[in-house]
Amino acid sequence: MSALAAEHNAVNLGQGFPDYSMSEQLISLVNEAMTKGFNQYVPMQGYMPLREALAIKIQSLYQTVVSPDTQITITPGGTYAIYTALTALLQPGDEAIIFEPAYDSYIPNVEVNGAAPVLIELKFPQYKIDWNEVRQKISPKTKVIMLNSPHNPTGSVLTEHDIRELRSVVAGKDIFICSDEVYEHLIFDDIPHQSILRYPDLLEKSFVCFSFGKVYHCTGWKLGYCISSPQLMNEFRKVHQFNCFSCHTPSQVGLSKYISDPGSYLSLPSFMQEKRDYFARLMQGSKFKLLNSYGSYFVCAAYDQISDEPDTQFSIRITKEYGVASIPVSVFYRSATDNKVVRFCFAKKKETLEAAVERLMAVT
Ligand SMILES: Cc1ncc(COP(=O)(O)O)c(C=O)c1O
Repeated sequence: MSALAAEHNAVNLGQGFPDYSMSEQLISLVNEAMTKGFNQYVPMQGYMPLREALAIKIQSLYQTVVSPDTQITITPGGTYAIYTALTALLQPGDEAIIFEPAYDSYIPNVEVNGAAPVLIELKFPQYKIDWNEVRQKISPKTKVIMLNSPHNPTGSVLTEHDIRELRSVVAGKDIFICSDEVYEHLIFDDIPHQSILRYPDLLEKSFVCFSFGKVYHCTGWKLGYCISSPQLMNEFRKVHQFNCFSCHTPSQVGLSKYISDPGSYLSLPSFMQEKRDYFARLMQGSKFKLLNSYGSYFVCAAYDQISDEPDTQFSIRITKEYGVASIPVSVFYRSATDNKVVRFCFAKKKETLEAAVERLMAVT
């Protein structure tokens, strides 16, 4: 859709990346790190002061103590952390439960390890997990449950109820959790982020994956981290050691200083909520019906008052004819389930959102 957007000079609300600038302070800190000579490999677990700063942040946000030495590994992005976690866990013949719509790397990451994805659709239009269906789909082969909150593409978030259900589903079973929390701080309406890090009993059997790029508006940095129990992290590092080994040093040095100030992340929920609310206000007069988004960069919009075309066709036509790119949500399902919704990314400058909505108003 980004290529099509460029071809048709469309406003690109499709792909999930910010078009506004990131923190000048963070850029200066990375520049300073380079100038001061932090340009060689750091240990494969990551730059220790960054892991220490993360441990402090985790304790203050989630009241959980994690060891910077044995439980945190810095990775080249969230996607890599997820791949590495699944590779550490899965053997041929295993099954992995994946909720759809799903971020596009999960299924290939499971299959490349010889395991089988077991797909469960989130209940439209709230995109909630049906835990009874999860219970039905658990088998002796189930090795992992893949979670994502805040959720791409729908903006749904896990609740305390979900955590209770999760706990009861995995209790006494050899089932692990891979929790994709790359949109950690991008959660709205004062809803607490139900991070697995809040729950030491669940963390014992989890890999929790994060992305600096996503939360600090620098997706091109491709830097993230994974948190787990010491035993599981040991397995994770066996894969990481011979894959990426060590991540970009100056960025880690810069981030270690930047995140030491809690303001750097405590300001993020309201920053992104303002964008969600601004986009929603602008869209009020349009024929699109925005679904609820409680977190992430994204909001889904139903277009059934406009057309009954398949969502892929609709998305392409709106890009070509009206000059606004979106992502059809059916592409996040293996079986292309089409609820006639498209995803818009609101992590954009006000001017970009205004330009897009001006065009979307004309869609009738
Ligand atoms: C749910 C989800 N997980 C992971 C990622 C990727 O994170 P990173 O760029 O740090 O690999 C994305 C990016 O779109 C995402 O939406």
